[in-house]
Amino acid sequence: MASIAQEIFGQMPGGRNVELYTLANGHGVEARIMNYGGTLVSLRAPDRNGVHADVVLGFDEFAPYLSQHPYFGCLIGRYANRIAGASFSIDGKTYHLSANDGRNHLHGGRTGFDKILWDAEPVESSEGPQLVLSHFSRAGEEGYPGNLSVEVTYTLTAHDELRLDYRASADQPTIINLTHHSYFNLAGAGTIHDHVLRLAAERYLPVDAELIPLGEQRSVQGTPFDFTVARSIGSGISSDDLQLKLAGGYDHCWMLTQQSGVCTLAAALYDPMSGRALSVFTTQPGIQVYSGNFLDGSIQGKQGARYQRHSGLCLETQHFPDSPNQLTFLSTVVEPDGQYQHRTIFRFDVRH
Ligand code: GLA
Repeated sequence: MASIAQEIFGQMPGGRNVELYTLANGHGVEARIMNYGGTLVSLRAPDRNGVHADVVLGFDEFAPYLSQHPYFGCLIGRYANRIAGASFSIDGKTYHLSANDGRNHLHGGRTGFDKILWDAEPVESSEGPQLVLSHFSRAGEEGYPGNLSVEVTYTLTAHDELRLDYRASADQPTIINLTHHSYFNLAGAGTIHDHVLRLAAERYLPVDAELIPLGEQRSVQGTPFDFTVARSIGSGISSDDLQLKLAGGYDHCWMLTQQSGVCTLAAALYDPMSGRALSVFTTQPGIQVYSGNFLDGSIQGKQGARYQRHSGLCLETQHFPDSPNQLTFLSTVVEPDGQYQHRTIFRFDVRH
């Protein structure tokens, strides 16, 4: 039976309760999501023998989520990824954002959507248990113009899909780029080097030393960035390639071949050992593939695990990084009479 249950997970410094919701779809997939950061705390999925494992990095308890951590499982906004120089212009007016990654703006700034307590409403829908998260972000927060109303709905379907529907509207022209930041490890432990990845992308965006796109749209052909045919992540990650050296692994945005706004396959990830597979579908034009390069064993995560470099893979569906400053990239401006919306689906299954 599909179900959604609610419990108190912890308290905010001011004393407000943080709620944890457990969504189960009745045949083995279970997602636990808290309203702090709209964070996916755990995701349990069966392997080819029906053995369950938690396939996302994070913490067992609430308290460590309040300390510095690299966005485990969070919703990211208002603007996922980097904005160069922490500034951008709309209609000739320049806006200054908080600089929280050197001189650049990353993942919404100091208090991005990953660090706020969302309003949450559990719903038992005909498609499966749902958690509707909403937030009102005031004009000027982190430097962004316009009041912004955001709603993100997680749905756990009977087809073993965790679906995210994002919606936002603003009362002034502003920029937006929302995403979800889970670190997947389909084996439930170890690194993701043996995971096999396929991406529906023939070009990617090379970056500079600050991980800001150069503006060039480079072909993946003949490079370690070529995942047009499924291949293990470890097969290329240590190559002598300047782009990989700059980032310490993959931390790049691939341009998805299909960009029509239709929800299509962007990435397929597979762990040959367990048989667990994850397919990512999206309406977004890009996918940032981040191989956990900044993890260095200093964080003690679930059940005491020390998360080492490359122990999780983020598949962040989104608009291209730094789009507000890059004339050749698609616009991320939302107008007051327009609606921002997109859908991303994480579908789990097993291969034998
Ligand atoms: C994103 C970025 C990475 C890094 C992580 C968080 O995926 O692209 O460079 O900032 O978030 O550690």
